[in-house]
Amino acid sequence: MSEEKIYPVPAQFDALIDKQQYEKMYADSIRDPDAFWGEQARQRLDWIKPFSKVSNYSFAKDDLHIRWFEDGTLNVSYNCLDLHLEERGDQTAIIWEGDDPDNSLHISYRELHEKVSRLGNALREQGVKKGDRVTLYLPMIPEAAVAMLACARIGAVHSVVFGGFSPGALADRIVDCEASIVITADQSVRGGKKVPLKANVDKALAQERVTTVEKVIVVKRTGGDIEWTDGRDLWYEEITASADSDCPPEEMNAEDPLFILYTSGSTGKPKGVLHTSAGYLLYAGMTHELVFDYRPGEVYWCTADVGWVTGHSYIVYGPLANAATTVMFEGVPSYPDNSRFWEIIDKHQVNSFYTAPTAIRALMRDGDEPVKKCSRKSLRVLGSVGEPINPQAWEWYYHVVGDGRCPIVDTWWQTETGGTLITPLPGATDLKPGSATRPFFGVQPALVDTDGNELDGANNGALVLKGSWPGQMRTIFGDHERFFQTYFATFENVYFTGDGARRDEDGYYWITGRMDDVLNVSGHRMGTAEIESALVAHPSVAEAAVVGFPHDLKGQGIYAYVTLSAGKEPSDALLGELSQWVRTEIGPIAKPDFIQFAPGLPKTRSGKIMRRILRKIAENDYGNLGDTSTLAEPGVVNDLIDRRMNR
Ligand code: WTA
Repeated sequence: MSEEKIYPVPAQFDALIDKQQYEKMYADSIRDPDAFWGEQARQRLDWIKPFSKVSNYSFAKDDLHIRWFEDGTLNVSYNCLDLHLEERGDQTAIIWEGDDPDNSLHISYRELHEKVSRLGNALREQGVKKGDRVTLYLPMIPEAAVAMLACARIGAVHSVVFGGFSPGALADRIVDCEASIVITADQSVRGGKKVPLKANVDKALAQERVTTVEKVIVVKRTGGDIEWTDGRDLWYEEITASADSDCPPEEMNAEDPLFILYTSGSTGKPKGVLHTSAGYLLYAGMTHELVFDYRPGEVYWCTADVGWVTGHSYIVYGPLANAATTVMFEGVPSYPDNSRFWEIIDKHQVNSFYTAPTAIRALMRDGDEPVKKCSRKSLRVLGSVGEPINPQAWEWYYHVVGDGRCPIVDTWWQTETGGTLITPLPGATDLKPGSATRPFFGVQPALVDTDGNELDGANNGALVLKGSWPGQMRTIFGDHERFFQTYFATFENVYFTGDGARRDEDGYYWITGRMDDVLNVSGHRMGTAEIESALVAHPSVAEAAVVGFPHDLKGQGIYAYVTLSAGKEPSDALLGELSQWVRTEIGPIAKPDFIQFAPGLPKTRSGKIMRRILRKIAENDYGNLGDTSTLAEPGVVNDLIDRRMNR
């Protein structure tokens, strides 16, 4: 083994998959993927009509397609609910923990089934048919899961939009998928503060380009004041109370769309990542069970928001496919105080806990006391997701939160991959702090150089995946050509992740971060291009360039260089205004940490902005800027350095 610190699988850890099983199953899954996945799909899913063919895919330009179990039929909500009723109908499916610590709720599988059925029928009554798109813009309340499953039940395609996005960002996402229905709440509550979700929906729908929405269904979360459009707006409580509780699930083809989830790329507008039914559910369920070593009856908690893919796969679909008890938390880690996570773990006797490095780093800053005053004895497995976890945060998570007893699964994956691809299994993988370790079954990572040549052994390169796996995205909604260009054009016949990685001599992967212009700020994925277009939409801005820089808490921070329009003068007031502008254009998560007024940006003679230089200056590491001789005006660089903000 290599020089890094190693944490072996705890001797007493009796896991579903041990080392020998991992090696054997992994080898089987690569030798004959169709046999492997065929067996998993028959065991784990309940089919209406069984499939006869397992995989059928090609990554070639003229023939790009990805299909799994293509002639089988099933229903995802049936698999997540009805299937469990006989044995586990009274078991808790969702533990909802409200923002207010005195507010929590247990919903059994039987109750969840009824809620989903009622909403499914209510949607059908509103004319929603198989294949129609429904946009969900909801707080972290049980109705979010109910709405996702109700769509799945009647064959509608949900598109969840994170509740922190602005009316403009919401409008973009509604327009792109031509949603006919929006489901929202009057307000959401986080950390004691209210967010006006319904008012945001009203603003989004007031935009002329939004033409497809017929109905807005509103959950009453706070009872706060909202505007009402008669004929368009409906109370969730009313339409579900009057709906029938018997809702026969729609028979869906394995490859019928389940959901669209928008994510940021390096260029242009957000992409509608499309996932389909059987492969996605199989992959989410199987990874949830094996990565968290989930056992029937255990309580599992993922702190993500349902607005992101982690919430889709590991709060809703994966756990419910496994008849698990899944915790859904409305609040934030710091409210009412910084012990909240650990209090919740004790309150609900949580066995596995899955969160993001940014939360761990923030809590670590407050010291051990807020953790230690809680017992945490119920914990068995800890998880990390969304960005690289620095070894220092890993060690704190392991020793302080997990008392040195609980394996940490550092799971690397993406919206596009549907579920975890490179990840430890708690009983099978010796851990190295900061490494996502080794591939899940059926997953074949590889490293390539800039020409696409595969690199072997211990090496560093672009992370690609050879072959397909059932959870892989199928297309970008409405733009199959962009799907090819984004993921399959850079390197031939493999899926390019956009990430760089190092592989060590033990075959462990260490993700080194994005190789494109995508930022990862507190685990939130954002395109620099989106922030730039928000900035140039401001009347005072002529040009903008956005880069990331290392940030102690957030992982990456946002640094914007702004060139003002002729006649506009830099001022502190304008700085504040631009910052606020980005917040309202995209949402609070996109607010720049630094904005620097830049009379000129470094460009090549052909007019291309040299981001490499901007990144170095933003990192306050301008000593070695590399070759600047190709710049049109080398002088601008010194000016940028003089006025740098991140000192
Ligand atoms: C990054 C979130 C290092 C990576 C599930 C990826 C990670 C992007 C990890 C996807 C990890 C996610 N270690 N980096 N364990 N997990 N990433 O689509 O850069 O929001 O490409 O999916 O997050 O972000 P997304």
